[in-house]
Amino acid sequence: MPEAFEFVDVLSSIKTPQSVNDKKQHKDDQFISHGSQEEIEKVCEGIKQKQVFTPEECEKIEHHIDIVAENAEQGLYKTHTVDSAPLRMKYFFGEGYTYGTQMRRKGPGQEKLYEKGEIDAIPDWIYKLVVKRLEDEKLIPKNWITSAVINDYRPGGCIVSHVDPRHIFDRPIVSVSFYSKSALSFGCRFSFKPIRVSNPVVCLPMQRGCATSISGYAADKITHCIRPQDVTSRRAVIILRRTLENAPRVGDPDPPHDLSYSNHFLNHSDNRKRQRLSLDSSTHHHNGRDRHGHNDAVEPVKRRRKSDSYSSHHMEKKRLSVSNSQDKVKKDDGHKDSSDLKTSQNIIAKKATRRPKPFFL
Ligand code: OGA
Ligand code: MN
Repeated sequence: MPEAFEFVDVLSSIKTPQSVNDKKQHKDDQFISHGSQEEIEKVCEGIKQKQVFTPEECEKIEHHIDIVAENAEQGLYKTHTVDSAPLRMKYFFGEGYTYGTQMRRKGPGQEKLYEKGEIDAIPDWIYKLVVKRLEDEKLIPKNWITSAVINDYRPGGCIVSHVDPRHIFDRPIVSVSFYSKSALSFGCRFSFKPIRVSNPVVCLPMQRGCATSISGYAADKITHCIRPQDVTSRRAVIILRRTLENAPRVGDPDPPHDLSYSNHFLNHSDNRKRQRLSLDSSTHHHNGRDRHGHNDAVEPVKRRRKSDSYSSHHMEKKRLSVSNSQDKVKKDDGHKDSSDLKTSQNIIAKKATRRPKPFFL
C-alpha cells in the first residue's frame, strides 16, 4: 500500500532568531531554535515528521486516552502501569521500566525493565488506530513495537531533559501528539525554584495528530525535553518504542558497580560553551516544583525521598479535588518516583563532579 502522507520538511520548519528577524518566518509562537546552523542540521537529520491523523481521527484517539485516564483513576491497572505526578500522568503498556528512585542502584544506565506481567498489555485500540497507521506510513517496521507509553500533561507540565535509555530502547523512537500543539525541545538545561529552562538548540513543533520519529544524533547525542511553557493546555503523547531483547530486567543480577548498561552519551556540543544560567547553587536543593508548587520536575537524588512522599500526597489531593468521579481514587503505593527523571537525574548525580555546574540543574 502506498504511503498516504508526506514527510514534513523539518529543517525548513525550524525557526531561528535570524529567520524570525529576517521576517522569513512568523514569530507566532515561542518555538525558536537557538543552536548553530550546523547543530540544528545534525539534530534535524535524525528527525522525521508526518501529519498522520485528521482532527476527527485525533478526537477518536483522544476519547480512548480519556478512558485510560478514567481506568487509572479507578485503579483498574497494575501498579507499575501508572505513574502519577502533579502535572502529568504516565501510563506504561507492554513494557515499563524503573527510573529515578525506583532504582535500587542509581546512575546512568541502571534502568531496568519490569518483569513480564507487571505491566498491562498494549490496548487493542493503540494497535488498530495508532501502530497500524505508523506501520503503513513506514515510520516503524511491522510487528516491531513492544512498548506504548502515554504521557498526559496538564498546562505547565513538563518532562526534564533526558535521553531515552539506550540499553532499554531500540531506535527510532516514535511519538504522536494529541489534544493540543506543543514542542519537543533538544539540548535544554533546567534549573529550579523557580523553574527555568535554557534556550533549546532545536525546538521542534509538534502539531496535534503529528507523528515524530527520532534516531541518530537527535535520539542519542542530545537530550530532549518538553518545556513547561510549551504545554499551554492539556497535551498527551503516545510514545511507541521497541525494547531491546537483552535489556536488563528487575531481578537480573547487577553488573559490576562501575559498569553501566549504557554508554555515556553526552559528548556532544551540548556540553560545550554552556553559558551558566544565572542561578546560584541553591537551586540544586529544591522541592521539585516551581514557586507555585506545581511542577513536575527534577531534583538531586539525595532529596528524592522527601519529595516523593510530598508528590504522592500532593497528587492524591489534587486528583481528589479535580475528579468528578465518585469512584475511589486508587491509592499510590508510595514507593514510586513521581518525576520525569529518567536518565537525566542520574546524569546529574554522576556527572556533577566532572562537569561545570549547572548541567541539567
Ligand atoms: C518521554 C518523552 C516527550 C513528549 O516520555 O520519554 O520524551 O513528547 N516525552 O511528551
Ligand atoms: Mn524521551
